[in-house]
Amino acid sequence: MQKIILDCDPGMDDALAIITGLADKNIDILGITTVAGNVELYHTTRNALNLLKYLDEDIDVYSGKDKPLLRDLNTATEFHGETGMGDIDLPNSSMESSKDYAEFYLKYAEKFPQEIELVAVGPLTNIAHALTEYPELKYLLKGITIMGGSLCGGNITPYAEFNIYVDPEAANIVFNSGLIVKMIGLDATMKGHFTADELEDIRKSDSKYSKVTMEIFDAMFRVRGKIGMTSVVFHDTIALLSAIYKDAFKFEEKPILVETGDRRGKTTENFKGGKILVAVDFNKEWFKKYLIETLK
Ligand code: BDR
Ligand code: CA
Repeated sequence: MQKIILDCDPGMDDALAIITGLADKNIDILGITTVAGNVELYHTTRNALNLLKYLDEDIDVYSGKDKPLLRDLNTATEFHGETGMGDIDLPNSSMESSKDYAEFYLKYAEKFPQEIELVAVGPLTNIAHALTEYPELKYLLKGITIMGGSLCGGNITPYAEFNIYVDPEAANIVFNSGLIVKMIGLDATMKGHFTADELEDIRKSDSKYSKVTMEIFDAMFRVRGKIGMTSVVFHDTIALLSAIYKDAFKFEEKPILVETGDRRGKTTENFKGGKILVAVDFNKEWFKKYLIETLK
């Protein structure tokens, strides 16, 4: 089993990643940390807590940073709705989050040196702060897998992918930290898009994981249909899976710089950048079968 700490900003596709991570017997989620991104920190944290209660799962949630290192927060409510979960109203969990997320990273990384993969599927603000405060994390963690970046154009501007755009300075800190960084950006994740009728087989299962996945999948179409989108992409789930199922991906090592000027958030191949393992391709057919099997 791969030990994972998941840093996220739920957000509907983050919620799908949490569900898949819990359903997969090869993944051991040690805890979830939340960051401001798709919606404000209050909502990303409540969404994580409420989703875990809805699934009846006992996982600790730590809330991290409520704004990027140097910039104002840009949210993505047009894709995720005002609260981040589209029009889904999850029952309120009575559990609370803890604030000391960076200490949680350190405590577990010391307990399991070189065993934990940090998977970050939101802006990299929490990780940049934690690496600055506790630089020893770079020796103690196995590596970091991020959902973010793109070598093939952006999804929030023509240049930039959303997570990197929101906090490019944090991304630069992480990319140059010395940690083994795997960048699962739009080059790979855009391969994992589905139209509304493509995942009907998941509905045949009445497991809690299948049911909640399809509730969120349907909500994604209701919310994104309003802005003309006809397919949805499992960005964050795909990034999570790359930490375990490497054969479903094609990786190439590239030096990557994060631009902070006019082309804010663009991940550019440049010899001055940190050496990053970039996912350049992904097997959608494998993913579809995996989802049906794992969630049932
Ligand atoms: C990323 O941006 C967010 O809106 C999603 O949750 C995902 O992490 C895709 O660009
Ligand atoms: Ca996300």
